[in-house]
Amino acid sequence: MITQVLDLLRCPVCGQRFASAITANPQATSIACVSQHHFDIAKQGFVTLLRSQRNSEQIGDTADMVERRIAWLEAGYYDAIAAAVSKPILNLLRTDTSGLTVGDLGAGPGYYAGFLAREAKSNGVPIRIIALDNSLYAARRAAKVDPNVASVRGDTWDELPFADAALDVVIVIFAPMNLTEIARVLKPGGTLIVVTPEADHLATLRAAVPMLNIPEAKSERLAEAALGHFSLDNKQTITTQTEISPNSAANVILMGPSALHLTEVTLLEVLSQRPTCTLDIAVTINEFKKL
Ligand SMILES: C[S@@+](CC[C@H](N)C(=O)[O-])C[C@H]1O[C@@H](n2cnc3c(N)ncnc32)[C@H](O)[C@@H]1O
Ligand SMILES: [Zn+2]
Repeated sequence: MITQVLDLLRCPVCGQRFASAITANPQATSIACVSQHHFDIAKQGFVTLLRSQRNSEQIGDTADMVERRIAWLEAGYYDAIAAAVSKPILNLLRTDTSGLTVGDLGAGPGYYAGFLAREAKSNGVPIRIIALDNSLYAARRAAKVDPNVASVRGDTWDELPFADAALDVVIVIFAPMNLTEIARVLKPGGTLIVVTPEADHLATLRAAVPMLNIPEAKSERLAEAALGHFSLDNKQTITTQTEISPNSAANVILMGPSALHLTEVTLLEVLSQRPTCTLDIAVTINEFKKL
């Protein structure tokens, strides 16, 4: 819920904090910064803190991509990733029982944020998570995943709508990011977890249908870019292979950027010629500490 994370946010217009008095009112329909810039809380519960509102319905993932991502993630195909991302955060929670503040950047429909919130709850430890995404459709869904997840529309390339040193942890799963801004909003010693695809992620599906390529050595390039702000603490690559149905394969392809140049009809024509499709998962969980 937005009203529970006001102390972590900052105004995208003037950069100042949000007035704490409103925090006391869980029924608030808008929030205001100390300079009286007001932002409506949408009826679904998210708030838009984009600096430019131009074409704001057309940015980020489309409604169809978001629904396919939910169907894919709820089927559990990426739960090994969700567990690997949550583990170091739960370890932090065990050592710091006062509760953690987490930003999930490019959070999509908030599946990983919800997963983490439930894990924290079942371990009896407090957590506050902000799911940030520029897509209207993703923000609507993320607002509903868990009472401890607040949904904010914002741009992860731009200045983040978070106060300086507000967060203990930032997670970025297959999403764009601005490392300088992440360093600003993390506390000293804070944790950054980035999930990057390896070049052979979804390799068999890529061989069957024309999908966008994954740049080589993504995690190595990330480690280089992070130098100066972060130290690499841990790195783990998950690789698995499973058979999935053509419909599930269509979901994993069309929930990503290849959706913009492929149609479901062409895709199912190719995929339905085979009884099952091979899903190769090859991703790296990169864990950094802020210097
Ligand atoms: C590949 S999806 C990953 C979503 C989520 N992390 C997951 O793995 O389920 C990338 C997400 O980043 C969002 N996105 C793309 N560009 C963005 C930007 N500049 N600012 C914020 N979000 C962005 C998209 O709307 C989409 O939800
Ligand atoms: Zn302001």
